[in-house]
Amino acid sequence: MTGFALIVAATNELGIGVHGGLPWRIPKDMAFFKHATTLIPRESKGMSNNAVIMGRVTWESIPQKFRPLPDRFNMVVSRNLNYDLHTEAAVLAGSMEEAFKVVEAKNPSRVFIIGGAQMYSMGIKKPECTHILLTRVLNKVDCDVFFPEIDPDQYRLANHEELEAYVEQEVPKGVQTYKEYQYEFQMYVRNV
Ligand SMILES: NC(=O)c1ccc[n+]([C@@H]2O[C@H](COP(=O)([O-])OP(=O)(O)OC[C@H]3O[C@@H](n4cnc5c(N)ncnc54)[C@H](OP(=O)(O)O)[C@@H]3O)[C@@H](O)[C@H]2O)c1
Repeated sequence: MTGFALIVAATNELGIGVHGGLPWRIPKDMAFFKHATTLIPRESKGMSNNAVIMGRVTWESIPQKFRPLPDRFNMVVSRNLNYDLHTEAAVLAGSMEEAFKVVEAKNPSRVFIIGGAQMYSMGIKKPECTHILLTRVLNKVDCDVFFPEIDPDQYRLANHEELEAYVEQEVPKGVQTYKEYQYEFQMYVRNV
């Protein structure tokens, strides 16, 4: 299995969603998500688009007109192999392992697990999970799904320069404010 990253926005309590959707709308975080998951890093120029792997619930949380996510290979995981994605431009897999097999055959530049909680819980345990791009939402927000605990023996909080190097662009540093929300761009990397 090739290396991959998780990308998520989570509160300090690790809340990530409510009622099948995102609990917040933070445009600069959405732009960061788009950039980070679409970027083909300099060292991989000429390789295929990145792949994004998501659970069926997360797929359904994306408004129909915005899915599949453009310029990325979209992979949806469901136990129901008859599930109708209503598009030829995304691929269904019956397990995470199957998803990675299909994705690897595409030779993508980078692979991201983009949610939700069930996918993150499987992904974070795998040694091939090298990075966690985490937008930390500092407000207390009611959530009903949660990101798994980040084990400090497995992952360390990277510094801001490492984050900018990974996404190959400047990233606003420190606490950001949008409407009632305060948030911060962070990255964890797997301990070597
Ligand atoms: N804050 C963020 O950054 C962020 C990002 C993404 C999502 N979210 C939020 O997270 C929530 C969704 O997360 P979730 O955990 O409920 O759902 P999810 O992980 O998106 O999808 C769960 C579905 O994945 C399939 N699945 C799970 N384990 C499987 C396995 N071992 N083999 C095959 N298929 C498997 C099942 O689909 P079937 O039922 O079809 O079998 C299951 O119902 C939403 O609220 C969403 O908005 C937040």
